[in-house]
Amino acid sequence: MNKFLLGTNWKMHKTEQEALAYTEVLKEAAKEYEEYQFFIIPPYTDLKGVKQLLKDSTIILGAQNMHWESEGPYTGEISPEMLKEIGINLIELGHSERRQYYNENDFDLNKKIKAAVRYGFIPLLCVGEYTEDKEYGVTQEVLSKQIKIALHGVSATDASKVWIAYEPVWAIGVNGIPADVNYVRQVHESIREVLVSLYGNETAHAMPILYGGSVNPGNALELSKQPHVDGLFVGRSAWDMITFKQIMELLNK
Ligand code: PGA
Repeated sequence: MNKFLLGTNWKMHKTEQEALAYTEVLKEAAKEYEEYQFFIIPPYTDLKGVKQLLKDSTIILGAQNMHWESEGPYTGEISPEMLKEIGINLIELGHSERRQYYNENDFDLNKKIKAAVRYGFIPLLCVGEYTEDKEYGVTQEVLSKQIKIALHGVSATDASKVWIAYEPVWAIGVNGIPADVNYVRQVHESIREVLVSLYGNETAHAMPILYGGSVNPGNALELSKQPHVDGLFVGRSAWDMITFKQIMELLNK
């Protein structure tokens, strides 16, 4: 059986010094909580140092975005070639903040996913609906569209390496409203159905679906128990090792 995935995107937080201090503590915790597959997604500037520290650890290292071309006239972008040299294992694609503030769209994400599998990275595709989508009852349609475009032309073999993170936009960040577990259960079920419709049962079940958005020590256990929740993608509550350890401890029970 696959391990429960537990990880965090640091967003634009942590200088290299802070990153190294955090990683040291997480490395120790990872030895204690072997039942989880941990992953961390630091800012680019922290990747090299963190990679060094992680060389004798099972923690998966990811980056927060990348371009689909291996090089080119794309000022401010980072290529898969550069990330490969650092030795990252995972690439987060389509976080709602990238979609909201940097016009990340499903068609570009499709190119990025294809580049990621070409480079041997695990693509972590983030999907999620806005409050309005939820209120108008089109969450399933929105997620289905995001997934179908992002995975367009991706073979079943390649798709089986993709992780999906369901992160409702209204649940993310300081103004986020934690999602109801029943809602999360239904949405995860519907995501699995989309994956089954695209790739059949076996591949669809090989693709982990993580939940993210205001995960905290108060809701982590219930969320983790829902069928089709194969991992938790934690923001603020994981940036501080005290609350992150509380979550590890809780899920362990
Ligand atoms: P949050 O962030 O846990 O701080 O809401 C989640 C995310 O953006 O992945």
